[in-house]
Amino acid sequence: MTQTTPEAPVRRQRAQVKVRTLRTDRWWLVPLLTFLGLSSFLVYGVWAIIDGSYFVDPYIAPFASPCLTTACPEGARLFGWAPIGDWFTLPPGLLILGLPGGFRLTCYYYRKSYYRSFWLSPAACAVQEPHGKYTGETRFPLIIQNIHRYFFYAAILIGLVLAYDAVLALVHKPQGLGTWILVVNAVLINTYTLSCHSCRHITAGRLNHFSRHPLRYRAWTFVSKLNAKHQQLAWASMFSVMIADFYVRMVAKGVIAFPFA
Ligand code: FES
Repeated sequence: MTQTTPEAPVRRQRAQVKVRTLRTDRWWLVPLLTFLGLSSFLVYGVWAIIDGSYFVDPYIAPFASPCLTTACPEGARLFGWAPIGDWFTLPPGLLILGLPGGFRLTCYYYRKSYYRSFWLSPAACAVQEPHGKYTGETRFPLIIQNIHRYFFYAAILIGLVLAYDAVLALVHKPQGLGTWILVVNAVLINTYTLSCHSCRHITAGRLNHFSRHPLRYRAWTFVSKLNAKHQQLAWASMFSVMIADFYVRMVAKGVIAFPFA
């Protein structure tokens, strides 16, 4: 009887490729466009937060809504209410910035896009990354990304407030261009929020039997359809909120004049 000797374990190593990538297509284009798009949003957001022209009746700029301090003009306050009072003396938009900002920052789609375009980790498939090691999202600070579902709950409230602002504009100025810009923005912000992966999980992610939960199944089916468009909704709502915010500020500054506004 012949005896076979066990084979020595094969030591797996990465292929020793000396060049950064063997790809010959324009793999850098998407990360570059993503970098420019997200950077423009960040720059605009910083400007919008310190800009004081965020309200012109009946429009309120989305970056400043809900306006919760007594520094807000009366018409800009949510339900005429100023629960924060006058102790907060910085621009009112700073109070709520963390909620929609945190929602987008921890969004699964945005994570993928800024890991690729800002951190080059990696910039694209089959492109060598500049980092020596990879720890994923298992350590501080990236482990904080797991709180995304809680930002989702806050984003639902912000989406409802923006929808309320759009309805107020519809009631008081149905023919205004700004009204329809706010309406489109509210629709896009809310569909982006509903298309969230956490929302899909919350509706029916842990069910074993859809047949026993027909309502949740229907909600899950609806959210799943939106979820398939999550990337597109992320970009569309990001640009719509910038456009709506900028438009209201231009009207408030008198750069765009009524009655066309
Ligand atoms: Fe993108 Fe939740 S995964 S908003």
